[in-house]
Amino acid sequence: PELPPDLFAAIAALKRDLNAVVLAHYYQDPDVQDIADYIGDSLGLSRQAASTDADTIVFAGVHFMAETAKILNPNKLVLLPDAEAGCSLADSCPPAEFAAFKAAHPDHIVVSYINCSAEIKALSDIICTSSNAVRIVEQLPRDRQIIFAPDRNLGRYVMQQTGRDLVLWQGSCIVHETFSEKKLVQLKMQHPEAEVVAHPECEDSVLRHASFIGSTTALLNHCQNSVQKSFIVATEPGIIYQMQKAAPDKEFIPAPPIANCNCNECPYMRLNTLEKLYLCMRDRQPEIVLPETTRAAALKPIQRMLEMST
Ligand code: 13P
Ligand code: SF4
Repeated sequence: PELPPDLFAAIAALKRDLNAVVLAHYYQDPDVQDIADYIGDSLGLSRQAASTDADTIVFAGVHFMAETAKILNPNKLVLLPDAEAGCSLADSCPPAEFAAFKAAHPDHIVVSYINCSAEIKALSDIICTSSNAVRIVEQLPRDRQIIFAPDRNLGRYVMQQTGRDLVLWQGSCIVHETFSEKKLVQLKMQHPEAEVVAHPECEDSVLRHASFIGSTTALLNHCQNSVQKSFIVATEPGIIYQMQKAAPDKEFIPAPPIANCNCNECPYMRLNTLEKLYLCMRDRQPEIVLPETTRAAALKPIQRMLEMST
């Protein structure tokens, strides 16, 4: 299709026409981050989606994020630039298998990481993100057992931080599992002054080399505020764009993947482009649509999360 010569101006005009807000995750391409009204981690983006008074939410992120925005805003138009922008972690937890897993652990509280489908959220008691998972589990009664789904790496990290025993669903993120411990150690030796910061979706073999672990927003804030001048960053490298903006005098080195490839860029997140962002606003689709029963059931655990992480 014909594209306007100035996509930034064309998107700005469509924002006005649709009374739209553009929300972008840090793992988006830099130009998509630049056009966004708000850039954030999963919790920050959920909070923005919960509080916006725009009529249209354009979600430059992956499907579960746009779906969460729709769960919170059934009467708003929620657009996702590429309908194929999924998530390996969300895909690793099919609803029928998860329902059976839950049935095999009756009386357990079900805590699900926001990186899951609306169907999984509807089967959950509380949703969490990487920035509030520890705080949420700490607030749960000590005499209750807990299922944690779908990310086994975040789950294991929460177990270590809280001392609680969690029943883990064995899902994982293809991006955060591709960092190489061996190459990370070699890189640390080449840059002894650099501090390693990592996202809790990484495997334990990578996290054990990190001096700071947190969500994308927490990593950004830490690098900005730290006295250190150099960082090795073990998460999707899209965040480095904001790190460089926030601290232009500091050095940010992406942690190396197992193979020599771009495989630390999330293949789902990067399906969204500025062109597709323009087209989804022009055409009012792909639109997120959800059955009302699923939406209503998925809303409760999201509201509980928002209440428990103020
Ligand atoms: P946060 O946005 O909570 O840092 O999680 C990162 C992620 O993997 C999103 O898909
Ligand atoms: Fe899913 Fe991993 Fe991509 Fe995040 S980085 S959207 S968890 S595949």
